Amino acid sequence: MGILGPVKPIEYGGQVDTEHRLRPTLSWPHLIALGVGAIVGTGIYTLTGVGADRAGPAVILSFLVAGVVCACAALAYAELATLIPRAGSAYTYTYSVAGETVAWVVGWSLILEYSLACSTVAVGWSGYLVGWLQEMGISLPHLLLAGPHAGGIINLPAVLVALAIAGMLMAGTRESATLNIILVIIKLTALAAFVALTLPAFKASNFHPFMPYGFGSHVINGETRGVMAAAAIVFFAFYGFDAVATSAEEARNPGRDLKIGIVGSMLICTSIYILVAFAAVGAISYVELGGSAEPLALVLRVLDHPVAAYLVAGAALVALPSVILVMMYGQSRIFFVMARDGLLPRRLAKVSKRTGSPVLITAMTGLFVAVVAGFFSLGEIAELANAGTLLAFIAVGACMMALRRNAPELERVFRCPAPYVVGTLAILGCLYLLISLPEKTLVRFVIWNIGGLILYFLYGRSRSQLARDIVDAAG
Ligand code: ALA
Repeated sequence: MGILGPVKPIEYGGQVDTEHRLRPTLSWPHLIALGVGAIVGTGIYTLTGVGADRAGPAVILSFLVAGVVCACAALAYAELATLIPRAGSAYTYTYSVAGETVAWVVGWSLILEYSLACSTVAVGWSGYLVGWLQEMGISLPHLLLAGPHAGGIINLPAVLVALAIAGMLMAGTRESATLNIILVIIKLTALAAFVALTLPAFKASNFHPFMPYGFGSHVINGETRGVMAAAAIVFFAFYGFDAVATSAEEARNPGRDLKIGIVGSMLICTSIYILVAFAAVGAISYVELGGSAEPLALVLRVLDHPVAAYLVAGAALVALPSVILVMMYGQSRIFFVMARDGLLPRRLAKVSKRTGSPVLITAMTGLFVAVVAGFFSLGEIAELANAGTLLAFIAVGACMMALRRNAPELERVFRCPAPYVVGTLAILGCLYLLISLPEKTLVRFVIWNIGGLILYFLYGRSRSQLARDIVDAAG
C-alpha cells in the first residue's frame, strides 16, 4: 500500500448503508443559488476596500487575476464533479488519484477553507451589525464585540450567527437551500443598485496612478502590497463554487445539474465583481476606498445617496449569512465523507432519519466556526482560509490532468476545454497566489497540516474503510 495509502477506484461506492447516504433533493437552480450564495459575500462587500488599499485602482486587475485562476479551477472542478459525483470534492478526487494520505491533507485543508471562510464572514457580518445598531443609537459593550486581539473578550454576534446557521442546517438541506435563493436575490439586487448608481459618477482621474504599488507582491512599510498581494486577498471573493461540487451526492441529475451549477455561478460572479470594482474605484479615490470597512456603503454616501448606502449595508447584513450557510454546508459534508471513509470516527457521519442531514457533524462544525469567529481577527482567518483553498484548487487541477492521462476512456459528462492548459494555469496561478500570502500565514498552514497528518497516522490510517475493503476482497 505504501506511505501514500490506498487509492480509491473511481467507481468505488464504499459501504454506504442507508444511515450514511445523503438524499438527492437538489436540482440546478438550487445549485446555482448555492454557488452564488457561497461566492458573493464578504469578498466583494468588504475586501474590495482592502484590495484597493493594497493595489490602488489596479485592484480591478487583482480581481481579474483571481477570477481567471478560479475560473480555471472551476472548469477542472466541473469535470471532476461530474466524473466522480460523490460528496467530498477535492478530497474525494484526490483519494481516487493520489491515494489516501494526500487526500487526507487535501481534506484537512478543505476544513480550513470552509470553516475559516464561515468564521471570516461571521466576523464581517458582526461588523455590519455593530455599525447598523450604532446608526440606530444602540451601542453594545466593546468587550462583547471583539476578540482578545482587539481588546475585547469575545465577538458575540459572530458566535451567535455561526450557531444559528448551524441550527438551520441541522433542520435539513432543502429548507436551507430555498431560503438561500431569497438571500441571493437580495444581495445581487443590492450590487446591481450599487453599479447603477455609481457608474454615472465615473471619473477617469480616479484611475491615476493606476498601479501605485507595482504588480508583484512585496512589503512596503510593513504592509504587503501590489496587484498580486491584493489578488491573494480578493481571491477570497471568488471561492465557494466548489461548495456546489461537495453536494454532488445530493444532486438529482449530477451530470447536468453540477455542470450548470458550477460554471454558471462562477461566470455570473466574476462578471459582477469586475463591474462592482470598476464602478467603485472609478467613483472615488482608492485612498478613500481603501480605508473603509464598508467600502460599498462609503462610495454611495460620498456620492450623496445616503438611503441607498443604508439599504446596501442592510442587504449585506441580511444576505451575508447565506455565505456562511453554504460554506458550513460544504464543511459538514467534507467532515461527513471523511468520517464515512473511516478516517474520522464513523458515528459522526450518521444521517438523521428525520431531516436527512448529518446532525452531529453539523453541530461540531458550527461550534468550531463559532469559536474561531469569537476569538480571532478577520484578516488572519481569511488569509488562512485562502491558503487551504489554494491547496485544494492545486489538487483539483492536478487530479483533472492525471485522470485525463491515466483514464482517458472514462466517459466525461463535462469535458474541461484545453484541459492541460487550463489545469496548468490553475496550478501555477494558485501557487503564485499562495506564495503571495504573508509568511506568517504559510507557517500556520504548514503547522495545521502537520497536526492533521499526526492525527491521520495515529487514528485514520488504521481505521480506513477502503483499506479494510481491500484486505477483505483479497482474503
Ligand atoms: N466568496 C465568499 C465571500 O466572499 C467566501 O464571502
